[in-house]
Amino acid sequence: MAFLFLCDATRGAVFAEVFSEHLPDVRFCMDPDAIGDDDIRFIMTWNVPENLRRYPNLEAVFCIGAGVDQFAGASIPPGVKLVRMVDQGITRMVAEYVAMAVLSLHRNLHLYIDQQRRRVWKELEQRSQAVDRRVSVLGMGVLGEAALRGLQPFGFHLSGWSRSRRSIDGVTCHKGQAGLREMLAGTDILVCLLPLTGNTIGILNEDLFGALPRGACLVHAGRGRQLDADALLSSLDSGRLSGAFLDVTDPEPLPPEHPLWGHPRVVVTPHIAATTQAKSAALTTVQNVERLLVGADPTGLVDLAELSESNFSDQR
Ligand code: OXD
Repeated sequence: MAFLFLCDATRGAVFAEVFSEHLPDVRFCMDPDAIGDDDIRFIMTWNVPENLRRYPNLEAVFCIGAGVDQFAGASIPPGVKLVRMVDQGITRMVAEYVAMAVLSLHRNLHLYIDQQRRRVWKELEQRSQAVDRRVSVLGMGVLGEAALRGLQPFGFHLSGWSRSRRSIDGVTCHKGQAGLREMLAGTDILVCLLPLTGNTIGILNEDLFGALPRGACLVHAGRGRQLDADALLSSLDSGRLSGAFLDVTDPEPLPPEHPLWGHPRVVVTPHIAATTQAKSAALTTVQNVERLLVGADPTGLVDLAELSESNFSDQR
């Protein structure tokens, strides 16, 4: 029985060590040609591997990242499970990134960075304390919940929005279209952590920005295709929005000539909100393989029907 690891060799070396310690009966392998197709029961990858049907005993494909939108439309053989990475390492990093970005926007760091570039020493009016600021998170899965919990100690007024109603202590939870509008109207800093689906492509658009109070800010750590960059730029220029932290763009990398790079009220980071941490991800994966070996569902099991319902082409 083998586990085929199709990601980078550096993380592979850590996985190999963790597997040999915890799952000595599962052969860990990074070279598909070094092992018989029949032996491969599990694959870890970021991109969809070609022709999964060549592995007749394949049970699960593990994605090394949290997002699985790249698998929409992939032909995953019947009975094979797709598992996304639900891991403390990623969750902690996302919560850190959101706290950093929200605090930066709250304390005008984006504006001070612009002033520094221009060598301007000037105090800007700090209009609100955290306890007067309303922060809302789009997406209240594992990552959204961790982000909200990470913001709680600062005293922000917190809200969250998800497809189905969630309940988190100290957070006003919204759902559905009406809930979204209601939440946006009371949001000073909006954080997007939504997965990319047919329903979320282009969701950060002019209409949504128009539903926010004037001067609101955006933190985007979902997926680049959720953001209408032109709408963001015009909303920033008109003062409708006053700042943005973007960790994801469309395309990635963001081309050097793109106006987002040079915009004085935008901070761009190169999709680093979370990177899969080899040690904790390897331990999480070991636990999931153990679950599968006793017939239990792994943590992070993806609903393939829901993923394939995502129509990525006809929206925006
Ligand atoms: C992920 C990501 O999906 O980093 O893990 O975006």
